[in-house]
Amino acid sequence: MSKLWGGRFAKNTDVMVEEFTSSISFDSRLYRQDIAGSIAHAKMLAQCGIISQEDATLIIDGLNGILADIEAGKFSFEVALEDIHMNIEKRLTERIGAAGGRLHTARSRNDQVALDTHMYVREQVAEIAKLLFDLEQAVIDTAERYPDVIMPGYTHLQRAQPILFAHHMMAYFFMFERDFRRLSGVWESADIMPLGAGALAGTTFPIDREFVARELKFSRIYENSLDAVSDRDYILEFLSFASILMMHLSRLSEEIILWSSTEFSFIELDDAHCTGSSIMPQKKNPDVAELVRGKAGRVFGHLMAMLTVAKGLPLAYNKDLQEDKEGLFDTIDTVKFSLTVYAAMLRGMRVNGGIMRQALKTDFSNATDMADYLVKKGLPFRQAHEVVGKCVAYCLGKQKTLTDLTLQEFQQFSPLFASDILDAITVETCVASRNSLGGTSPIQVGQAVTVARSIMDKQ
Ligand code: ARG
Repeated sequence: MSKLWGGRFAKNTDVMVEEFTSSISFDSRLYRQDIAGSIAHAKMLAQCGIISQEDATLIIDGLNGILADIEAGKFSFEVALEDIHMNIEKRLTERIGAAGGRLHTARSRNDQVALDTHMYVREQVAEIAKLLFDLEQAVIDTAERYPDVIMPGYTHLQRAQPILFAHHMMAYFFMFERDFRRLSGVWESADIMPLGAGALAGTTFPIDREFVARELKFSRIYENSLDAVSDRDYILEFLSFASILMMHLSRLSEEIILWSSTEFSFIELDDAHCTGSSIMPQKKNPDVAELVRGKAGRVFGHLMAMLTVAKGLPLAYNKDLQEDKEGLFDTIDTVKFSLTVYAAMLRGMRVNGGIMRQALKTDFSNATDMADYLVKKGLPFRQAHEVVGKCVAYCLGKQKTLTDLTLQEFQQFSPLFASDILDAITVETCVASRNSLGGTSPIQVGQAVTVARSIMDKQ
């Protein structure tokens, strides 16, 4: 197949090299952006008197025809034409003749591919924002479905203090909300228009970059042509956003996997969101959560790969930059799919409040409250800590919990204990009295949900 750049070559490209250098197998997904960008460029060229209005009309009609062909599955992408840009341009010229050859005036594939990828990232960021928004809703809904459920809160995966299950869920809401903010930052970094940079240095034609930016709804324009064709920060920012989001999802997955084990039995996932075993008939596995945890590693890999691809590159465009796409596309697909299944899984999840409560009956997660009780009676906190530590050791020896102790037993450890001690260390009191701002009391968690809902209403 004859090349759009064949003029200076005496030999045909080795077929192996054509295949190696080609990106059409993955960049064909940029076809809508490529065509929209070319239409805006053609309008601008005509507007500035660089090509005729008739040629621009032919080009625009031709491009719209190609768009329809691609969407109807009637376009065959050629490896020999390397990438989406040359596949479309070559077909355009076949359709409309000489006018097609004027489209690439004052443009290079370097600023063209940058434009397409910026537009694609912008579009995908908007789609991911909707999915993330829905996941945030699912998280708040899950918290609100179980307003009274109390569970052990953990540090070091050892039972620490009782908390509301809703408080635990809302922690994830605020994590995802920060992801949402980061995603808006990615939008801003992608919303800069590179076209007009040419191959690297600008162009000799009297182009109007603002016109193109307006046509394509970009709010800013790259100020430096070298930067315009070499910048992949917006991709790195997207991959960073995605890595942090996947890290959050992976942490929640880890908890869901633990909680759905027989040992915990804190939750039960819907049958529709689990899979079985080919050999063990009793199995019901939390595959969705496990796979999301696994896919986090894959996304981190894409971030590391892109950083590594970019780190040694001299300005301006280098073919290495073609390596930006597969990791980006795979990350977009992975994040979209993960968010979608995750929201569904949370909506189907049932929480076993009774078992969580049972867990609290057999532990010492009210020990801090017992120390706080003594502090409120005047004992310095360090001494109170020591007294309660001794009580715990005593209970462990007698296979009792703190609430099993009689008043006489309590008073062996400190005369400050009075008959109100048992009320002060019930699980409900422990939770209700952590009413400091951002704490786990029902009042605070209720306020957190209100704040969350109002954040969501504004989006
Ligand atoms: N397929 C290329 C890419 O994705 C397009 C830009 C090619 N430019 C070049 N000078 N070879 O990066």
